[in-house]
Amino acid sequence: MEKTILVTGGAGFIGSHLCEMYLAEGYNVVCIDNLVSGNMNNLADISKHPSFTFVQGDIRDAELMMQLFKTHRPNQINHHAAQKSVAYSVENPSYDLDVNLVGLMTILDCVKAYPIEIFIYVSSGGALSKKIEGDEKSAETDTPQLISPYALTKFTGEKYIEMYAAQYGYDFTVVRYANIYGPRQVPDGECGVIPIFLNNILADKPSVLMTYPDMPNGCTRDYVYVADVVEINKLASEKPTNTVVNVGTGEEIAILDIYKEILAVFEKDVAIFMEAPRAGDVRRSVLDAGRAENLLGWKSEVALHEGLTRLRADLEVAK
Ligand SMILES: NC(=O)c1ccc[n+]([C@@H]2O[C@H](COP(=O)([O-])OP(=O)(O)OC[C@H]3O[C@@H](n4cnc5c(N)ncnc54)[C@H](O)[C@@H]3O)[C@@H](O)[C@H]2O)c1
Repeated sequence: MEKTILVTGGAGFIGSHLCEMYLAEGYNVVCIDNLVSGNMNNLADISKHPSFTFVQGDIRDAELMMQLFKTHRPNQINHHAAQKSVAYSVENPSYDLDVNLVGLMTILDCVKAYPIEIFIYVSSGGALSKKIEGDEKSAETDTPQLISPYALTKFTGEKYIEMYAAQYGYDFTVVRYANIYGPRQVPDGECGVIPIFLNNILADKPSVLMTYPDMPNGCTRDYVYVADVVEINKLASEKPTNTVVNVGTGEEIAILDIYKEILAVFEKDVAIFMEAPRAGDVRRSVLDAGRAENLLGWKSEVALHEGLTRLRADLEVAK
């Protein structure tokens, strides 16, 4: 049977890697993206693939979305389009609400009219992290801190996906990502600490570490290489879990240590300065991904040093 997947935000960093994977797996891929942060260059290798359709448009455009569903009748949706920045959501919560929830609702209205089989919804394990004490990790069952509009819209989106699944009969997986990095990531938003540092380092410009006074090495995060993220999406399309799964390595790394690792892998030596943290930033975040392993057999395979080494190789090829 033909498999057609709608990838929203497919011209973005993660979405473009997913479009490539789904085509390689034999899906028809329909990608919608308004290119607000995505880029057609990310789709250069697949834009002429006979099973690939690109639609430039906004997920909040109800008429366009309904037409797209009517024409392509996707069996699956992988929803990556979003306002993705914690800091920007604090500055402009209305925009965050509009893209992340009104946009989702526009898609769900289409699902009511044109039923699907599987919905993959992307959430944020970092922003939804519980308050971490000692050497614990954040699990899916923990209560999230919800200290930014972005955390609130992603969490509410999860609940809509679950509620609509019960009402309209699709299977789903919510993938709660840690901090993802890899080729095509651009330095912006919440998710850009590695490309922001890297851009500065390659230009021999000092970077700024935004942190709390009692955390001299910076806030902590869990970093996952994009190939691992592609793999869990592949698995979630094959075997729905009907629950939330964390996508993390379980390794808690301070931002200063990330900076030092980038310097080492790229063989550079550039200064870094301290500043106060941004509103909405969680202090510590590290994910327990045991549920992803139990339900999908997924485990992060690419350690940080290996991921940064692959990123360096990719940038050298692109030169
Ligand atoms: N990168 C990370 O570390 C990380 C961590 C947690 C969650 N996420 C989530 O993963 C998803 C993808 O993030 P990314 O890092 O690839 O970012 P990205 O900015 O590269 O991708 C988002 C894509 O969505 C598109 N888009 C935004 N608003 C749109 C709209 N209204 N209509 C149509 N398209 C729209 C953008 O143009 C872009 O191509 C987002 O949902 C983000 O919240 C990312």
